Amino acid sequence: MKVLIIGGGGREHAIAWKLAQSPYADKILCAPGNAGIAQVAECIAVDPEDPQALAALARAERPDLVVVGSEVPLARGVTDLIEAEGIPVFGPNKKCAQLEASKSFTKAFLARHGIPTARYREFTDKSELLAHIGLFGFPMVLKADGLAAGKGVVLAADAETARQAIEEMMGERVFGSAGDRIVVEECLIGVEASMLCFVDGSGIFPMESAQDYKRIRDHDEGPNTGGMGTYSPSLVIDDVLMAQIKDRILTPTFAGFKADGLDFRGVLFVGLMLTADGPKVIEFNNRFGDPETQSVLPRLRTDLLEVFRAACENRLSTLSLEWSEKRAVTVVLASGGYPGSYEKGKVISGLDETDPDVIIFHAGTKNGENSEILTAGGRVLGVTAIGATHEEARRKAYERVKKIHFEGVQYRTDIGVVYEQKN
Ligand code: AMP
Ligand code: GLY
Repeated sequence: MKVLIIGGGGREHAIAWKLAQSPYADKILCAPGNAGIAQVAECIAVDPEDPQALAALARAERPDLVVVGSEVPLARGVTDLIEAEGIPVFGPNKKCAQLEASKSFTKAFLARHGIPTARYREFTDKSELLAHIGLFGFPMVLKADGLAAGKGVVLAADAETARQAIEEMMGERVFGSAGDRIVVEECLIGVEASMLCFVDGSGIFPMESAQDYKRIRDHDEGPNTGGMGTYSPSLVIDDVLMAQIKDRILTPTFAGFKADGLDFRGVLFVGLMLTADGPKVIEFNNRFGDPETQSVLPRLRTDLLEVFRAACENRLSTLSLEWSEKRAVTVVLASGGYPGSYEKGKVISGLDETDPDVIIFHAGTKNGENSEILTAGGRVLGVTAIGATHEEARRKAYERVKKIHFEGVQYRTDIGVVYEQKN
């Protein structure tokens, strides 16, 4: 089979790496890919956020299957365009993609189907919202309705901060039309966890759990990032909690998809807050997490291409997903200055050494002119180590991380450490 992957980050490298292990994968293409993906796939320079260009690529290459990595092309309807060419796509259609692309759509879905989440109210009028500062108390959770590259959520500690955030979103329109509607939520207290699920018309099938570390610095300090590291399985989700998540969240979500005519095929990523009242949904994403995928897929024993094919044929329920008992830890190496502005083009050294228990997933990298590998993004690499125990995986990951260098490199030293709640 010929597979086309859309994207060029660490998540897409993990997907390409895993697909390359399938005996059915004859050829893997990736648009646009990166220097690491180029080791397992043919990279094609097409804008991964331009659905028309991607559909043209699919028409020209006629892959047997397309896998979409990120939310932006999904929200822009790339699945509908490629499916119209008669090519199966693993990734939800435009209607379903609203589950990530519109917070308001998701909150209404959760409310309609009685799925636990924070109380909320939405506003489209700035003065009306300004008159409701402190609704549900402080911190006041303000969410731009649309996609905002992970930056659209503000937890305002006081009235002045809330006012500023509202001015930026609705007055200055820093997120464009994404901020024209704002969802205000009650602030949930607890520990966060991510649950990724494969979904098709036959059911919703959770993958092994993972924990993400969103802040840039150790001890969960500093600004939010796309994710600075993960480990799997989560040490905060036990069997009792997993049963609750299935009963109260996953099962009603799937029933809601059926009731609302949402023909979801792809990954549903459930962001959870584990509160004193039980697990509650913070958000849905409709694609694999980055860097959750880098810790989860190396533990999957089942052929990933078979999973994707099954999902496209609505027969996931006939597969049984098998997982390794081993533990995985992923540490992200980022450019100096990230998540703010940073320089690119730094030479990366220390990538050559191989170890069967360590995988180096590339995110923002590219090949230089003299076969060197250069930094090309904020998050540059994810070093994933597998171990018999969580501690062993953590130790191996950091041993390998310390051998990699580029100017300005920064990484957290506490990936895998379990903290109490922080809000
Ligand atoms: P989201 O983009 O919706 O995942 O929000 C980004 C981050 O904001 C989440 O990972 C949480 O850390 C935080 N957050 C979002 N909604 C809430 C809430 N209702 N209560 C507390 N924290 C929240
Ligand atoms: N790591 C969080 C995300 O992929 O959205």
